[in-house]
Amino acid sequence: MIPIIAEIERVKQAFMTALEAATTHQALEQVRLLFLSRQGELAALMAQLKELSVEQKRQAGPALNELRSLFQVAFDARQKLVADLAMRGEQEQAASFDVTAVRSVARRGSIHIYTQIIEKLEDIFISMGYSVVEGPEVETEFYNFDALNIPANHPARDAHDTFWLTIPSLLLRTHTSPVQIRALEKQEFPLAICAPGRVYRNEATDASHNFMFTQIEGLFIDKHVSMANLIATVETFLQAVFEKKDLKVRARPSYFPFVEPGIEIDCSCPFCAAGCSICKKTGWIELMGAGLVHPNVLKSCGIDPEIYSGFAFGLGIDRLAMMKYGINDIRLFQSPKIGFLEQF
Ligand code: PHE
Repeated sequence: MIPIIAEIERVKQAFMTALEAATTHQALEQVRLLFLSRQGELAALMAQLKELSVEQKRQAGPALNELRSLFQVAFDARQKLVADLAMRGEQEQAASFDVTAVRSVARRGSIHIYTQIIEKLEDIFISMGYSVVEGPEVETEFYNFDALNIPANHPARDAHDTFWLTIPSLLLRTHTSPVQIRALEKQEFPLAICAPGRVYRNEATDASHNFMFTQIEGLFIDKHVSMANLIATVETFLQAVFEKKDLKVRARPSYFPFVEPGIEIDCSCPFCAAGCSICKKTGWIELMGAGLVHPNVLKSCGIDPEIYSGFAFGLGIDRLAMMKYGINDIRLFQSPKIGFLEQF
């Protein structure tokens, strides 16, 4: 047997194996290039045929022709099968395509840290019998200053860099203390309220100062209210805030025109035992301004200071959050950065 006959047999086997393995258009194209193209195996055999003697051509010629038609028939059949397969795949995909499916791309929001802390503080106040009230952020000069014993030209006004509105006597409240006046005007005693909310100061911003921040105010008015009541209330309040039963408070003399005497209240550092960076190794943290409500404030609300007395205290929520969560820039509270906000 002439060698080309064996070669034809080998190419035939290789072609059939490759064809059966091809299930995609791309695989089929590879088979076509390898066997049927001008550089393919079939063309190579045809070229060999030309070199043979007439006698040999007579043997190999029909075998090669047979191979060529087999290749064509088998390839066409396979091509149809692959096309059917591809169509069926597409149909299956189309059948399982659910136009009502919802992809969960929405990010879950989180409650802003201000809101979380305010809600916790409100709960503590409520547990002590206080109610929650709110006042307007656009205030009048009367409520923000005059009624709080801070008349025009009083130096204490300078400490509150104020955003005045173009409408005379209107401003953005510089503290939550004007809510004291709004509550006192109702003349319902005993009075126990807390007032959380935004306050504004027209000052340059840095990591620890912002033009807007939040405070919460506490106010209690009744007959015979003393400094001892104030200290005990604040101590109970702060023990609940920091969830520490052995938390201690101390008072230092201070000055706010609407209280007399005025004090600044510190608490023993709830974050350490022997001095940390938050308490600057002092073991104490400055937390709030407080004092007994000034007789002038009561008088400006038509209340007789000989009969009623009370205490008030106010603390910054931003600083509380910064200490608790180790936040080093107060401006982050107004930041839209998702990375910051979603931590809480
Ligand atoms: N309103 C004062 C401030 O913003 C804080 C304060 C409140 C002081 C109540 C005494 C009593 O600084």
